[in-house]
Amino acid sequence: MAAFNESRYESMVYKRCGRWGVKLPAVSLGAWQTYGGYVDDATSKRCLFRAFDLGITHFDFANNYGEPNGNAEAVCGRIIKEMPRNELLISTKAGFLMWPGPYGEWLSRKYLLSSLDDSLRRLQLDYVDLFYAHRPDPDTPTDEVMDALDQAVRSGKALYVGLSNHDADDTRAKHAHAVAYHTARPIINQVRYHMFERQVEQGTLQACAECGMGVIAYCPLAQGLLTDKYLASQTPADSRLGRSTDICAKRLADREPIEKVRKLDALARRRGQTLAQLAIVWLLRRPEMTSVLIGASRPEQIEEDVAALTNATFAAEELAEIEAILS
Ligand SMILES: NC(=O)c1ccc[n+]([C@@H]2O[C@H](COP(=O)([O-])OP(=O)(O)OC[C@H]3O[C@@H](n4cnc5c(N)ncnc54)[C@H](OP(=O)(O)O)[C@@H]3O)[C@@H](O)[C@H]2O)c1
Repeated sequence: MAAFNESRYESMVYKRCGRWGVKLPAVSLGAWQTYGGYVDDATSKRCLFRAFDLGITHFDFANNYGEPNGNAEAVCGRIIKEMPRNELLISTKAGFLMWPGPYGEWLSRKYLLSSLDDSLRRLQLDYVDLFYAHRPDPDTPTDEVMDALDQAVRSGKALYVGLSNHDADDTRAKHAHAVAYHTARPIINQVRYHMFERQVEQGTLQACAECGMGVIAYCPLAQGLLTDKYLASQTPADSRLGRSTDICAKRLADREPIEKVRKLDALARRRGQTLAQLAIVWLLRRPEMTSVLIGASRPEQIEEDVAALTNATFAAEELAEIEAILS
């Protein structure tokens, strides 16, 4: 077991996940494109260790993260082995395409449960703390999905279950089913939410609160756009856009919001923080939010992002100015 900072729990903020007893750090760390992907294994380890030293206890995966699919779990599984398992909240997901044929995606019981077994093997874990339905499935009935998630819990392979990319109606329907049939209730919704993507404010956040669920925001920095790295006219070679040919990374190539980014950057500086920090605490202004799920290609980014929590309140005029910039 590696040695970690003994004061790691002193400065992080931990928030209860909706009505549930389990707490998440206000900043969590995910592995999507980075660990087991374009970040080398040694740097991945330094990131996870530094995150934990800073009080980040929640690490997020999915079956398909990394290059090739599954590599994020394989690489980080080896790292997590050196960390105190009971102090970690590990999540994974199934829902997007993982293997060919009719059983390799969406939310059938067959796919969800076989994918969870594969994830546990790659992560070298007996259980994950949280297992997600990664996206709603228009063809699999709610009872099949919720029974499969319940089976994951009852078999001891997951402690909690969650939903991801579910809108207000999807969230309410799955939660209501679990309540009616006394199956494992989803405790959280993992949603895309950042300054340029605010769809969840149109009902999803409210639905989660009504269902007693927490909310965790993914891509809070719009994959790096909400930092100062793309303000220069030249894309940095050591950035996600510079390194990755992934279609998601290519979304960063849209320079249309850059003028807004410049204004937000100026506002952040006036507040004495960086743009990344502003983007993080702006999400946490909403009472429904449990955590902000960042990605990071180096430990220094995690240090900067976690330090956002030291300046997390907004004057009404600042919030109005942000609205004006974003509108
Ligand atoms: N449920 C879903 O469908 C879903 C979908 C996508 C993501 N997610 C989850 O959300 C997590 C985060 O997604 P994301 O990586 O797109 O999040 P993000 O936080 O929006 O972007 C992360 C990237 O921003 C840059 N960055 C972070 N902090 C920085 C700083 N202080 N200064 C400069 N640049 C900084 C880094 O880019 P460089 O790498 O260029 O340095 C980093 O890789 C994923 O790992 C995954 O767990 C879930």
